[in-house]
Amino acid sequence: MANVGARKLNPTPVAIVGAGPAGLLLSHLLHLEGVESIVLEVRTREEIEGTIRAGVLEQGTVDLLKQIGAGERLAREGFVHHGIELRFALRGHRIDLTELTGGKAITVYAQHEVIKDLVKARLDAGGSIVFEAKNVTVHDLETDAPKVRYEKDGAPHELACDFIAGCDGFHGVCRSSIPEALRTEYLRSYPFGWFGILTQAPPSSHELIYSLHDRGFALVSTRSPTIQRLYFQCDPHDRVEAWSDDRIWRELRTRLETLEGWEPKEGPVMQKGIIAMRSFVCEPMQHGRLFLAGDAAHIVPPTGAKGLNLAVADVRVLARALVERYHNGSDAALRAYSATALRRIWKAQRFSWWMTSMLHQFPDNNRYQKRLQLAELDYVTTSRAAATALAENYVGLPFDG
Ligand code: FAD
Ligand code: PHB
Repeated sequence: MANVGARKLNPTPVAIVGAGPAGLLLSHLLHLEGVESIVLEVRTREEIEGTIRAGVLEQGTVDLLKQIGAGERLAREGFVHHGIELRFALRGHRIDLTELTGGKAITVYAQHEVIKDLVKARLDAGGSIVFEAKNVTVHDLETDAPKVRYEKDGAPHELACDFIAGCDGFHGVCRSSIPEALRTEYLRSYPFGWFGILTQAPPSSHELIYSLHDRGFALVSTRSPTIQRLYFQCDPHDRVEAWSDDRIWRELRTRLETLEGWEPKEGPVMQKGIIAMRSFVCEPMQHGRLFLAGDAAHIVPPTGAKGLNLAVADVRVLARALVERYHNGSDAALRAYSATALRRIWKAQRFSWWMTSMLHQFPDNNRYQKRLQLAELDYVTTSRAAATALAENYVGLPFDG
């Protein structure tokens, strides 16, 4: 990293590309420690506040949002879940997350609600978010005077800063600004996707249900007393229009069936879409004065509910490192950022890959492999040691672990 030296403080110390959970939270964490930033977001406020994505918040994510004053609505409207159900061979088995982790739990609260809370926290605190910032590009990363160029309302702008945080998601521009020869990318694609729906219906279950069926995976989640979120494994190239409401509910009823005749509570399907499944990591997560965080650097399949939580964990480490640089003049934590974040990221990669492998039908799995999947599920739901390993990963490993 170029030496920071004793330069005069930049009016915008940190430029943040992307107003997803990573960018907004980083901006607020820095602000609370007296370090200012500008967030550049390509979409409108309405778009980022309306995009349906994740739903499960780890204990550490919830604690952090509350600590920084962005958790009031989450505390009121989020649903605290103390367990999950694993369903296979027509039977349900509860994993008691709270008992197995010494009191921890997860909270179901939609990602776009987190976004609304963070945008409000930033704007209430006088923070600066430039929406509809087009054609963002990052420059001079290897110098101590990096810059971000963008267009707003057709006019070009250049932002001089000390550091750039690339929080622009998987399809953003920051990762590809690191020369190809200096980054290593690890990728695993899965031969299936998730068909996700939002339905207007009461909750089918008090806790999330992860189900393995001969026809494939299914997941029952929730959003509110009147809106539910359900998913099922599908062909990633399938067409959303090929799935009528009737066909969707028939598939969900089949994949979630039990010996007792369990059925989901059905309602009109308000939204449907297909999600690709990938595991991806880019190493290192830093190049000169550019630091990547969240989906810009890594992707997990949604089975472990880790993506949003990993973005939160990254920016907590990055915020601390930047604050140390501004408060004490030390670059040590910034230099360690990539390695520190990657230790936790790879554990989340492992967990998400493991949950995905255990709970999905793979087209090339033979009978032997299918029996191994059932043995794995049988083990996890009958061994306290195995259930504890699942529970401690699901509620979230320590931020620095
Ligand atoms: P993003 O949320 O992708 O934010 C990046 C932002 O950058 C976006 O607002 C984008 O518009 C902006 N941007 C992109 N390019 C540019 C550019 N060139 N210039 C300026 N701005 C740019 N995770 C969980 O933890 N739990 C779950 O239960 C879960 N479920 C999921 C379900 C679904 C259906 C999906 C799709 C994902 C799910 N995830 C889940 C993953 C989670 O949504 C992501 O990991 C999370 O959004 C990552 O946050 P981020 O801030 O890194 O990136
Ligand atoms: C969700 O509610 O969107 C959700 C829940 C659990 C997952 C993934 C997504 O593993």
